[in-house]
Amino acid sequence: MLKISDLTAGYGRLNALRGIDLTVGKSEIAFVVGPNGAGKSTLLKVICGLIKPWGGRIEFEQSLINGQPPEKLCREGLVLVPEGRSIFASLTVEENLALGGMGRKDKDVLEGDLEKVLTTFPILRSRYKGVAGHLSGGEQQQLAIARAILQQPALIMIDEPSLGLAPLMIDEVYASLKALNESTGMTLLIIEQSTARILKLAHQVNVLRNGEIVLSKRTSEIDDPKILEEAYFGYAA
Ligand SMILES: Nc1ncnc2c1ncn2[C@@H]1O[C@H](COP(=O)(O)OP(=O)(O)OP(=O)(O)O)[C@@H](O)[C@H]1O
Ligand SMILES: [Mg+2]
Repeated sequence: MLKISDLTAGYGRLNALRGIDLTVGKSEIAFVVGPNGAGKSTLLKVICGLIKPWGGRIEFEQSLINGQPPEKLCREGLVLVPEGRSIFASLTVEENLALGGMGRKDKDVLEGDLEKVLTTFPILRSRYKGVAGHLSGGEQQQLAIARAILQQPALIMIDEPSLGLAPLMIDEVYASLKALNESTGMTLLIIEQSTARILKLAHQVNVLRNGEIVLSKRTSEIDDPKILEEAYFGYAA
């Protein structure tokens, strides 16, 4: 689905990503974790075309997509839920969700999909006619994810879904994402700062530190969570 090789990128003279290799298979849940400033958001922005890479290759469904415009990539099924959500606060929940389905021609199927996301995220059903800006942070996060789902992406990339959420809400958002992956086979690339919860959810984990991937493993290969911590904090292995 997504294959990144030897990717470099940055801002001016700052080299934020160095020699990144990352492969995400169809229907996988892949995580990239790392501390503040590691380059996680930069990685997602480069993948979805918001920042041009300096070098390397990004292949999506077997075609090279380096430097293609984000609108085009989005139409082709690569959708980003950026850091800090991105809902329209003055519009209602209904209107925000309608924006997600806007480009779709299969209106009958869309209705069914809408029904499904409202079942997955019940709070959105109960606040359907309400203004999105009045939702709590976690509820807004659910709305941003629900809207992305209605775009029918092949790959959905989420930048720190847990940011600013209470632990219970994080569990809820992740349970929904896992259920979605299991029921629809949607491929997920998720960025997080914390390694908590990941081993239960992910099929593969990548640790990004100082612009480099220092560990990349299938979850099934990680028998001791300490391996993750060590890569994250940079202790000698
Ligand atoms: N627009 C920008 N201009 C210049 N430097 C930037 C810009 N955006 C990010 N950077 C720098 O690039 C590096 C990587 O930033 P990035 O936002 O990718 O980190 P991150 O891993 O997402 O961090 P966080 O967990 O805090 O969100 C940091 O050193 C950051 O200061
Ligand atoms: Mg970030």
